[in-house]
Amino acid sequence: MRAVRGVSQDRPPVWIMRQAGRYLPEYQEIKRQHSFVEMCTTPEIAVEVSLQPYRRFGFDAVIVFYDILFVPEAMGAPLQFTEKGPVFLRPLREAREIEKLHSPDLEATDPQRGTGAVLESLKALRANVPSKDAVLGFAGAPFTLAAYLVEGNFQRSGERVRRMMNEEPDVLHALLERLTVATVDYLLLQVEAGADAVQLFDTWAGLLSVDDFRDFALPYQQRIFSAVRATGAPTILYVNGSPHLLASLAESGATGLSVDWRQPLADVRRLLGSGIVLQGNLDPLKLFSPPAKVREMTQSLLDSMAGDSRYVFNLGHGIHRETPVESVEALVATVQAWNKTANRSG
Ligand code: CP3
Repeated sequence: MRAVRGVSQDRPPVWIMRQAGRYLPEYQEIKRQHSFVEMCTTPEIAVEVSLQPYRRFGFDAVIVFYDILFVPEAMGAPLQFTEKGPVFLRPLREAREIEKLHSPDLEATDPQRGTGAVLESLKALRANVPSKDAVLGFAGAPFTLAAYLVEGNFQRSGERVRRMMNEEPDVLHALLERLTVATVDYLLLQVEAGADAVQLFDTWAGLLSVDDFRDFALPYQQRIFSAVRATGAPTILYVNGSPHLLASLAESGATGLSVDWRQPLADVRRLLGSGIVLQGNLDPLKLFSPPAKVREMTQSLLDSMAGDSRYVFNLGHGIHRETPVESVEALVATVQAWNKTANRSG
């Protein structure tokens, strides 16, 4: 929280996207007895799983365990998590299907109707995590949620959603509009429940050209950030594959950007100036290198951001499910030992 407010500290804080997950043996243990959906929607389990990486590594933030896709599910889109990832059973391709979506009853605990479980989990986390560490909430951004809803089973190219963008732009805008209204209410409830800051995941908006991004993603992000800003809670925006979008992302109104691994973070800082918070951006696949190499790459990223008071250490995307635990240990220990006044390699 100090870093997002630009308060100078000896080292940047560190957390990693998807920090709770399959790379952890203690997560696997719970996963053997419960489905992913059960884990997310049973606050007692979700809280335990959220705390596992925090306890093991000493991260500076806890992100609540849940998924971005539960919001559209609560709006009436049947969802299944399979071995190959999430699937919406009835992809939305026509105006009349989109009109059938309803507003979620966000506080309801039944996942087919609402998101009450994550609000409960946030309350419990904020009550149990020491106040020096942050509790983070999150949501999917309208474009990324729409991409899943339209594709059903999302593939990397996003062809169907981009086709709809051109064939029936008004239909897509109608869907984005409904998702925006729900997401605003959802994030306000998360802040009320105890989230110190919230991250908006627009993972797939990086597929868009700058012009399409400015039509179909940016205006909705702006509405969401402007609504959350009124609560005083800082906001972070993540878009994967975003080098061409950086200048536009800076117009989103987010307090900070979570930057993917494709560009040197120090270059992003030079491009965007010192006012915006930056988070990132080690390539998650770098964690498959030997621990000594992980330490070296972590150190060099830290050195490249030395003296930057608006910096949060993270990966450039979620951690891979088969990542060696020793790599995460090496990463976190390197950040924790780093000190702005110590000798540096760079
Ligand atoms: O960061 C965190 O630890 C918080 C929890 C979190 C999850 N998903 C848990 C999860 C967050 C913030 C998300 C966001 C999310 N979910 C995004 C945006 C960020 C990104 O990674 O791009 C997206 C696109 C989704 C949709 C989703 N959920 C996919 C594509 C998958 C399958 C991929 C995979 O890793 O298996 C999920 C499932 C999911 N969500 C898992 C976790 C821990 C894996 C579930 C398991 O253990 O089986």
